[in-house]
Amino acid sequence: MLKTLLAQVKEFTKSSILTPVFAFCEVIMEMIIPLLMASIINEGVNKGDTHHIYVTGGIMIITAIFSLTFGLLAAKYGAMASMGLGRNLRKAMFEKIQTYSFANIDKFNTSSLVTRLTTDVTNIQNSYQMILRMCVRALSTLIVAMFMSFFISPKLACIYLVAVILLGGCLAFIVRRAMNYFQEAFKKYDDLNESVQENVSAIRVVKAYVRGDYEKKRFKKASQNIYNMLFRAESVVVWNSPLMQFTVYFCILLISWFGAHMVIGSTLDTGDLMAMLTYCMNILMSLMMLSMVFVMISMSIASARRIAEVINEESTLHNPEDPCYEIKDGSIRFEHVTFRYSASAEVPVLDDINLSIASGETIGIVGGTGSSKSSLVNLISRLYDVNEGAVYVGGKDVRSYDLDTLRNEVSVVLQQNVLFSGSILDNLRWGDPNATEEQCIEACKQACADEFIQTFPDKYNTHIEQGGTNVSGGQKQRLCIARALLKKPKVLILDDSTSAVDTATDARIRKAFREAIPGTTKIIIAQRISSVMDADHIIVLDDGHLDGFGTHEELLQTNAIYRDVYESQTQGGGDFDEGGAA
Ligand SMILES: Nc1ncnc2c1ncn2[C@@H]1O[C@H](COP(=O)(O)OP(=O)(O)OP(=O)(O)O)[C@@H](O)[C@H]1O
Ligand SMILES: [Mg+2]
Repeated sequence: MLKTLLAQVKEFTKSSILTPVFAFCEVIMEMIIPLLMASIINEGVNKGDTHHIYVTGGIMIITAIFSLTFGLLAAKYGAMASMGLGRNLRKAMFEKIQTYSFANIDKFNTSSLVTRLTTDVTNIQNSYQMILRMCVRALSTLIVAMFMSFFISPKLACIYLVAVILLGGCLAFIVRRAMNYFQEAFKKYDDLNESVQENVSAIRVVKAYVRGDYEKKRFKKASQNIYNMLFRAESVVVWNSPLMQFTVYFCILLISWFGAHMVIGSTLDTGDLMAMLTYCMNILMSLMMLSMVFVMISMSIASARRIAEVINEESTLHNPEDPCYEIKDGSIRFEHVTFRYSASAEVPVLDDINLSIASGETIGIVGGTGSSKSSLVNLISRLYDVNEGAVYVGGKDVRSYDLDTLRNEVSVVLQQNVLFSGSILDNLRWGDPNATEEQCIEACKQACADEFIQTFPDKYNTHIEQGGTNVSGGQKQRLCIARALLKKPKVLILDDSTSAVDTATDARIRKAFREAIPGTTKIIIAQRISSVMDADHIIVLDDGHLDGFGTHEELLQTNAIYRDVYESQTQGGGDFDEGGAA
């Protein structure tokens, strides 16, 4: 964990060293001031030596200026190092997340990733700055002031020593108690973020289902949990201040009492007594600061662990050592493919699938919800890896291709698809960043998207809201198809991508595909038999098993599931869940 964090701060080694050095110099300067003050009182005021007062006063001003300058430099370099660390951590996490496979993303949920990228990084950033500046300042103040006190009067300094040990013990106890509560509170932040994120991103669904009150309660609960934990932590931490004040005043009282006796007995100068009182404040304040630093550090240990988890997570998908950058054609073969989402699952999601699809064919996939249609096609572009068997594209195992090459050649319109904020053209160019406007229009014509884009006042420059909320479901699907077409892939997969498009438009899209991209292998997952009946072959999936493979006519003859659904759909309304396996 520490190694992961240190790697990110390497770039700021200079600032990370300079900050404590300057903080230490600042402390030294600060600690000289009470000594000079003592000298002014002892040598100047008591002996009426004005010259000494001027000279020492001058030195004091110079010392103060130095102290200030060192303080400023420490603050500057401290900020540089800690903000730099924050930036690098965010960057490292973000870049790592980009390499995650779907399986990795399934493991960390999105809200947890967001908390890790934001709150956790801020914690680390703050505590790093605290360690570099406050911790060094407090520790060196404590040591130097203690040393100075022993130098002035070892007898009186013993009072501090006892006070430091007692107060230190109490503060350690407080910090330990508070630490547990703080760590709990940070875990609860995940719940809060999940509630906020889910609610805000799915606000329309929340409203449609009138789940506002439920969501409010859920948010209130998550928020209340954090409040409770932080309240408990702070209730412990508040004892810091009275404890510290009590010790300070008690020490001042003791020092004044014994000091005054010593001044009367001429074993101590008045100026030295003054200096001792200043050191008293310094020592105990730095103890207090140290306790705060420890609270902060303890809070960030949990954050550091969570950040390291993200950075050290290995993607479950790897590019092969000597990848192949060329895909010969769009032929696809499944050989004894078995797949499960989690290694521990007993029943596989896909069980011993064998299939062969020639390049340029149109393939329909039908089957009830949850029959693993999406899982099957996700293996083709290696969104997940098979557990047993192999998937071949263009005659080669998909695991032997460079991932980017494979995903550019196997273009998938995912079932849960999204558009991003930006113009229609920007969105289309996700498919091909260098596509000209003509090429974009051409792709939209094939996906039957051009017809509705032309009705928008800004046409192809129409702004799409985040998530594509200002276009209809069917329009969004057609834009997603156009985006996938722009990749000019060898294999095009449409995962239930025309479900919101009317039957006539659906037929026109398929016709356009036949004419415009005859060489591309097209895989169409659909619930409507009409969407796949003119395909070269149709795959019927049932609960992860291949139940049928053939043309529409063949399946009508041989496949009971297919025939039942076809009949129920042509007679009106049935689908795979109702008609199916019966
Ligand atoms: N990311 C995932 N993690 C774990 N299990 C999953 C995941 N995605 C799907 N499953 C499970 O795998 C099975 C097949 O799901 P899949 O999405 O492939 O079905 P589908 O045929 O595409 O269904 P639909 O018609 O509803 O899209 C289901 O039982 C589902 O619960
Ligand atoms: Mg699906």
